[in-house]
Amino acid sequence: MTSEPVAGQAVVVATSNPGKIREIEEALSGLNWTLQALGAVPLPPETGATYEDNAALKACAAAIATHLPALADDSGLEVAALGGEPGVYSARYGNVGSDLERNVLLLDRLKKKTDRRATFVSVVILAYPDGHLETYRGELHGTLLEGPRGENGFGYDPLFVPDGETRTLAEMTVAEKRAISHRGLALAALMDAHRHGPPTRQTISVE
Ligand code: IMP
Repeated sequence: MTSEPVAGQAVVVATSNPGKIREIEEALSGLNWTLQALGAVPLPPETGATYEDNAALKACAAAIATHLPALADDSGLEVAALGGEPGVYSARYGNVGSDLERNVLLLDRLKKKTDRRATFVSVVILAYPDGHLETYRGELHGTLLEGPRGENGFGYDPLFVPDGETRTLAEMTVAEKRAISHRGLALAALMDAHRHGPPTRQTISVE
């Protein structure tokens, strides 16, 4: 029987994305969990059709390999004028190699488009080695600029201005981004659920 994380307990962060690691560490510092890097544990290919499927694939693989609770984020950018693309395929958009190339590609596809609305989505899953899953989701609405601004963050941050803001996410600090972002909101929900100890597990009985 595996137990839910309590203060001081190790939780594996099932990602190799340094931008996500920074944001997850900053957001969860209040929980006193000992966040542990993935190390040499291989992550499975993201073959799921949804953020939930892909986050579960990553979190379960890490929990099974390490025998520890493991946390994974699957996220993406949904662009209204592109019918919601790149969405779950955001990390592999256009099969190009770098964040910069993906941003150039996105700007090219948005050329002459007047509708610049976009939404970031994050699904965070905490998986336990016994197969129990907790799922948290957050969204952030905004618009895409015609050129990049800012040096912070990662991915599409330099192009994205959240609704009600004048700066891009790449012009904000980690704490400023966390307070409003899709990932920050999903992690805040996780924090809230664990504020008074591990959340109660639901038992589903099948007859
Ligand atoms: P995945 O969750 O590993 O599939 O990767 C999600 C991809 O979506 C990232 O590689 C980025 O391209 C993009 N993305 C997700 N969240 C953010 C964010 O907070 N800022 C900028 N880009 C993001």
